[in-house]
Amino acid sequence: MITVPVDLGDRSYEVLVGAGAREWLASVVPSGAKQAAVVTQAGVGFAVDPGIVHEQFEIADGEAAKSLATVEELCRAWARCGLSRADVVVGVGGGVVTDVAGFAAAVYHRGVAVVHVPTTILGMIDAAIGGKTGVNLPEGKNLVGAFWQPSAVLCDTDALATLPPREFRSGMGELAKYHFLDPLHRDLDRLPLDERIAACVRIKADVVASDEREGDHRALLNYGHTLAHALETAGRFDLRHGECVAIGLVFAAELANVCGRIDEDRVREHRRVVGTYDLPVALPAAVDRDELITLFGRDKKAIGGVTFVLDGPNGLELVRDVERAAIDEAFDRMTA
Ligand code: GLY
Repeated sequence: MITVPVDLGDRSYEVLVGAGAREWLASVVPSGAKQAAVVTQAGVGFAVDPGIVHEQFEIADGEAAKSLATVEELCRAWARCGLSRADVVVGVGGGVVTDVAGFAAAVYHRGVAVVHVPTTILGMIDAAIGGKTGVNLPEGKNLVGAFWQPSAVLCDTDALATLPPREFRSGMGELAKYHFLDPLHRDLDRLPLDERIAACVRIKADVVASDEREGDHRALLNYGHTLAHALETAGRFDLRHGECVAIGLVFAAELANVCGRIDEDRVREHRRVVGTYDLPVALPAAVDRDELITLFGRDKKAIGGVTFVLDGPNGLELVRDVERAAIDEAFDRMTA
């Protein structure tokens, strides 16, 4: 079992990565907890045993379940079964489950402990790590949330055996960004899967430890996501999140090259990494550039102009006010 610490002072915790990590659940449940609320979805099918009295709460499938209504339902059900502040919530599933379970845990009794057992690659290397929790509003994604660090995260790689191939590949799109976040990890694709996941967790843990509440540095974790979020928000394309991130990474590399920040070899390296994971590298033919640029401006990192995380001589940096002509040139290269 690989253990990765997340150093956050009195909110520090460990992430365990490996086959059978769920067996450690009873040992990471807070000592005073008398009962556990296990939050999951019907399709997850990954049984856990917190080693104390527990009840399972299923939320609906899909992004629509990330709502305040789901959080209210959970909190009311927990109140009916007498879940106390000393007890624990366990989130078992992908990012939707850990985001919702984490947020409900953050607000129930003004905060109860939560342990995450992510069952997707995306969950293991991103959503379950770092304490971002939240739900969507009809007006936008993740508009209501809280930073609420888990007590532990158990990344049981056994859960990945049953992931549909496209879901697995989508997770690799998120993983691909980690190749560029840390110069020491350029050969991530050569590592066995559990070590690769642990390496991503370690990179994310370091970033979160340096900027828990996203002053600036944590925003680098959104490498490739400005275009990815715009493609997702535009909503007309049959693309998963990780597939959008893959396209977004190649676009960010082309844009950095247009801006004179990186050379052609580095762009080729982005294309190689994304290609290694068998992910798309081209913009869908039907994109509307003006629409995407409007959506770039609405990105949470955009302050006063279009903002991207771009590679450069000093590694990844937030670059503000990127010019339209540069964006158009990068778009041209993505459709050529
Ligand atoms: N998913 C990006 C972050 O946790 O900051």
